Amino acid sequence: MAESFPPDFLWGASTAAYQIEGAVKEDGRGLSIWDQFSHTPGKVLNGDTGDTACDHYHRWQEDVVLMRELGISAYRFSTAWPRIQPMGRGAVNEKGLAFYDRLVDALLEANIEPWLCLYHWDLPQRLEDRGGWRNRDVAYWYRDYTAIVARRLADRVAHWATFNEPNMVAYRGYGDGDHAPGVKSREAVMQAIHTLNLAHGLGVMALREQRADLKLGNIYNFGPREPATDREEDMIACRVSDAIMNRSFSDPQILGHYPEPIAAEIAPFVQSGDYAIIRQKLDYFAFNHYARSRVRWAKGTLFQFEHVAPPRGTPVTDMGWEINPDAFRQVMIDSKARYGDLPMYILENGAAFADAVDSEGRVHDPQRVAFLRAYLGAVHDAIAAGVPVRGYFVWSLLDNFEWAFGYSRRFGIVYVDFATQKRIPKESYFFYRDLARGAPLAR
Ligand code: FCB
Repeated sequence: MAESFPPDFLWGASTAAYQIEGAVKEDGRGLSIWDQFSHTPGKVLNGDTGDTACDHYHRWQEDVVLMRELGISAYRFSTAWPRIQPMGRGAVNEKGLAFYDRLVDALLEANIEPWLCLYHWDLPQRLEDRGGWRNRDVAYWYRDYTAIVARRLADRVAHWATFNEPNMVAYRGYGDGDHAPGVKSREAVMQAIHTLNLAHGLGVMALREQRADLKLGNIYNFGPREPATDREEDMIACRVSDAIMNRSFSDPQILGHYPEPIAAEIAPFVQSGDYAIIRQKLDYFAFNHYARSRVRWAKGTLFQFEHVAPPRGTPVTDMGWEINPDAFRQVMIDSKARYGDLPMYILENGAAFADAVDSEGRVHDPQRVAFLRAYLGAVHDAIAAGVPVRGYFVWSLLDNFEWAFGYSRRFGIVYVDFATQKRIPKESYFFYRDLARGAPLAR
C-alpha cells in the first residue's frame, strides 16, 4: 500500500544544544548543569561528556548542507541558555547570540524553517546553585532570558517552544536523579513541576510582547502507561506515573489544573494568580513520543512506582523501548480528544540501534527504516482518523550525546564518527529524504 501525506505536511528533524554543540568553554559560554553532571564520575556511561559532542558549534554549516540535501522544510534546535547568559541572569553574551543568529540566517537561506526551543535541559549551573527549578525566582529569570532571545531572533523565527519535555526535567532531574542536576527528592519534583509551568506561562507572555503573531507551544512528552498487572496497587501506581510523566504540564497549561493524583502535593507551591499565568493561549500542540511503559507499584521508591521492562519477546530498540506504532497512533487520537483541535506536531520520534559503518563506508540501518516506516504509518492513520497532525520531526538529525547513555546510543539518521567528526548519511536518511520530497509511504 502506498500512502501520501498532505502536500503541506511539514517534514523536519530535531536536535538539542548540549547534545550536539560541544565548544563548552568557547566564546564566553557559561557552565550548564549537564557540564557539571557529566564531569561527575559515575553519572554518565563511560564517563562521556558533551565537551565536544558533534562539534556542531564549528561544523554547523556542513550540518545545514546535510539538512538542505535531506529536503526537510523545518529544523528544530535549542538555544543554550548558558551560552546566552553565562551566569543565568544579567549580562548577555553577544557571541552566544551571534551563533544562533548565523544559524537562523543559514537555515532561512536553505529554505528551512527554524523551530526554536528555548530550553532543552541545560540550565546555567549558577542558577542550580540557587536551587534551580526548586526556586520560583528561576521562572522569572527564564522569562528574562526568553525576552533576550526573542529580541534578537523573533524577526526571523516564527515557531517557538518554551520547553522540551519539562516532565523529564522535573522527574529525572529532581526525582530519579539520573539526569542533571541529580537531586532525588519528592518535594523537589513537585516544586520543579510548578516552577517550570510558571516559567512556561511567563515565557509565552514575554514572547507575545515581542511579536504578537509568533507561533507558540510547549513540547510535551507522551508515553502511554499501563499497569503491569490488574492488581489494585499497580493500577494506582500507573495513575500516579501517568499524572507525573504525561499530564503534569499539558493539563495545567491547557486545561488549567493539575491532575488529581498530584494536585494536593503541588498546592502548597501555588500562589494566587499562578494558574492565569500558566494557562496561556497556545498556537500548536506538540509532543515527543518514544514508547509506552508498564508500571508497577514499588515500595520504597519516591513515588511508589517503577517502570518495568516489556515482556520477553517484545520487539524493542537499543534503548529497550517497546516498538509499537499502534500505541503512537492512539496517543495522537487521545491527545486530540483531551486537549482539543490545535494543529498537532510530533517534534521528536525515532529509535536507537547499534549502527556500524560497513567495509564500503556505508551505514545500513534497516531496523530504523522499518521503525520510521511503521511510525509514519501511524501518523498517516491518525490523520485519516481526523487528528490534525501537521508535521513530523525525526529524532535525530545526527547521532549525539544521549544524556546518561553518553555516545553509546545512536538515534541519528546521519552517522557521526566521534573520533573524526565525519558525518555519514545512513540508509534511513535517504528513506526520509524521499518522503520529504513527496514520495508516498510504502507499507
Ligand atoms: C527525548 C529527549 C531527546 C533525546 C530523546 C532520545 O526524551 O528530548 O533529547 O534524548 O529522548
